[in-house]
Amino acid sequence: MKRFKGTVAVLVALLLVVSFVSGCSSNNGSSNNTGTATSTGGTTSEKQKVIGIVLPTKDEPRWIQDETRFNDALKDTPYSAEIMFSQGDSAREKSNVETLISQGIKVLILCPQDASAAAAAAEAAKNAGVKVISYDRLILGTDAVDYYVTFDSVEVGRKQGQYLVDHATGKNNPLYLYAGALSDNNSFLFFQGAWEVLQPKIADGTFVIANSSKAEAVKSKQTLTRDEMSSIIGQITTNWDFSTAKNLAQANLSQASSSLKGNVFILAPNDGTARSIADTFAADPAVKSYVITGQDAEKPSVQYIIDGKQSMTVFKDVRVLVRDAINAALTYLDGGTPESTTTYNNNVKDVPSKPSEVQVVDKSNVKSILIDSGYYSESDFTWPTQ
Ligand code: BGC
Repeated sequence: MKRFKGTVAVLVALLLVVSFVSGCSSNNGSSNNTGTATSTGGTTSEKQKVIGIVLPTKDEPRWIQDETRFNDALKDTPYSAEIMFSQGDSAREKSNVETLISQGIKVLILCPQDASAAAAAAEAAKNAGVKVISYDRLILGTDAVDYYVTFDSVEVGRKQGQYLVDHATGKNNPLYLYAGALSDNNSFLFFQGAWEVLQPKIADGTFVIANSSKAEAVKSKQTLTRDEMSSIIGQITTNWDFSTAKNLAQANLSQASSSLKGNVFILAPNDGTARSIADTFAADPAVKSYVITGQDAEKPSVQYIIDGKQSMTVFKDVRVLVRDAINAALTYLDGGTPESTTTYNNNVKDVPSKPSEVQVVDKSNVKSILIDSGYYSESDFTWPTQ
């Protein structure tokens, strides 16, 4: 009897799911007249497309990871989503958002190309009654942001800084500082976290700043203002761009005296820029060794770590971020309010958020954290022969 009741309950549940899904509007989302990338979540053309996702660029493995993980996660929901890329262009971002609004989305998940410029796109969505979730990067200067899905970005910076501190011995170790784009609020959070940890070790003589007069000018200050960070970041920015990173590293090395070479320490803001900067330092015969940070656990950087060409990365499990974003979207679609544990001020409002944790990965734990957890497959990489 018990078993029969259970079977009936399962059948009723299945019928409910089937009738819900078939009651949704039909839209396979497989074409996209803007020429940007398009994806659908799931295999059925019966899924309802009420979530729009806009990511900054296809040119970095980081955002391709997010696209893949969104598609995986959406398979388990009654919804599909269109994923569009802004290709580093705020105007294109805005027109992507307008396209999605005209398609009838109810929730927008937007990772801004430029934090301030994206306010206009967020406001267009808000005016159309669409809930706006800022994804990974915070949209600044508008009240049109309902929720912020993010990793703990200050902690990313702390972990990068701590890794350098933990690997330095003695005094006067040359420290090269690099940062992300000024238009990305995360660049400030990463730098803030790194500075918190590095500054006492600059003050006690463990490190000597090699490439930033702006950082040198405030080296005795433990806490920097936004303006101070802005002027430092402006001097050491990679603009999240591989060739900008390479050119800057080359310029820094060509100006550095021999005392600023030898065994060096490099704060690189993310994996893409870390690979360019690492290659540049590796090519300088006066650099004997380098310790370099990164973040994102991009596959090419995981290979660099295995090969000893990049020291560490900060692993931000994109599956978690995507799950948080989709859960927040589903909560809005149900008329609820997503859970928050903190807020981030975007200059206009305190945006509710629930930041998730990050982990250091280096040669010693790359296998256990990234392979044994099923995040990547062992066959994605070339391993040293034992
Ligand atoms: C993200 C990083 C990414 C960087 C460059 C940041 O906002 O948090 O994961 O590497 O942008 O795209």
